[in-house]
Amino acid sequence: MIRTRLTELCGIEHPIVGGAMAHLSDARLVGAISEAGGLGVLASANYKTAQEFRQELRRIRQFTTRPYAVNLNLFPMMRPIDNMEYLDVLCEEGCTVVETSGHELPPELTQAVKARGLVWIHKCVLPRHAQRAQRLGADAVTVVGYENGGATGRWDIGTMVLVPAVVQAVDIPVIGGGGVVDGRGLAALLALGAEGAIMGSRFVLAEDCAIHDNVRQMLCDASVTDTMLVMRAIGATHRVIANEAARRLAEIEARPDAGLEDVLPFVLGEKSREVYFDGNVDAGMCYISQAVGLMSSVRPAAAIVQESVAQAEAILGRLSGR
Ligand SMILES: Cc1cc2nc3c(=O)[nH]c(=O)nc-3n(C[C@H](O)[C@H](O)[C@H](O)COP(=O)(O)O)c2cc1C
Repeated sequence: MIRTRLTELCGIEHPIVGGAMAHLSDARLVGAISEAGGLGVLASANYKTAQEFRQELRRIRQFTTRPYAVNLNLFPMMRPIDNMEYLDVLCEEGCTVVETSGHELPPELTQAVKARGLVWIHKCVLPRHAQRAQRLGADAVTVVGYENGGATGRWDIGTMVLVPAVVQAVDIPVIGGGGVVDGRGLAALLALGAEGAIMGSRFVLAEDCAIHDNVRQMLCDASVTDTMLVMRAIGATHRVIANEAARRLAEIEARPDAGLEDVLPFVLGEKSREVYFDGNVDAGMCYISQAVGLMSSVRPAAAIVQESVAQAEAILGRLSGR
């Protein structure tokens, strides 16, 4: 068993967080990660209405009675949702952990999270953002290095530097990630002072993640050089698999006059859904970590959690025995 302040705080068995993933983190995946003793995180922005969101939270209970978290997205959205309303819903449905992500922290939201006695984890990109969240009462912070799948921020700081920098900057527990897909990564993060590891990309290749077999094959075959960065031209850099759509987008972004209207058609959520669920692997953006090159099998989410912990324990035991 690896016990940390994070496992105590959230009431979970293992210090592994399943990163919220647009389109992919549904009740089944979240429930499977939590049932295995990790902390599944539902991406609330996937649900257009509070009613749909509530139904998905109820569906999580078909898979687990253990704690899970909900991500509330504070970044600008094409289709904004009412986070205060969603906060009421998640409390009513018995969720105990909230993860916020974004630069702005609206005081009415953070105060409401605290007033309801929820565990509050804030996901951010820099030590000073982590310090601000700590001042506002966050119970833990999450940071992911530039290796990660999805949004990379604009600073391009790798996990090896970012995690200890944030650990040094705050007293609350730090969840680190970016490029972590197994127990080697988990052990490394603990060595850096983190008290939990967030894994997103590894759970894309979980049996419990509803993606098309074509995507599974593409990701199993990919190497560490098969990702690229897109959307830098519009200040929203993301790491994706280097498919046809990403390469075409990169060409367009290389033009000096490239703007939002040029980028948008490539990054629409429906295009990503076409990739993930229809298996049309070149249709749009497929967000994934550099560590895609370290993953070559589809495994149950429970096995990913348990094998990662067992491997980390073995590594830590071996190193302490030296
Ligand atoms: C397919 C995919 C979608 C993601 N969507 C979101 C999201 O909607 N919100 C968010 O905060 N992070 C999102 N992330 C980031 C993850 O929550 C997590 O921080 C990241 O995957 C960790 O790095 P890794 O991919 O190297 O494991 C996404 C990641 C992936 C791979």
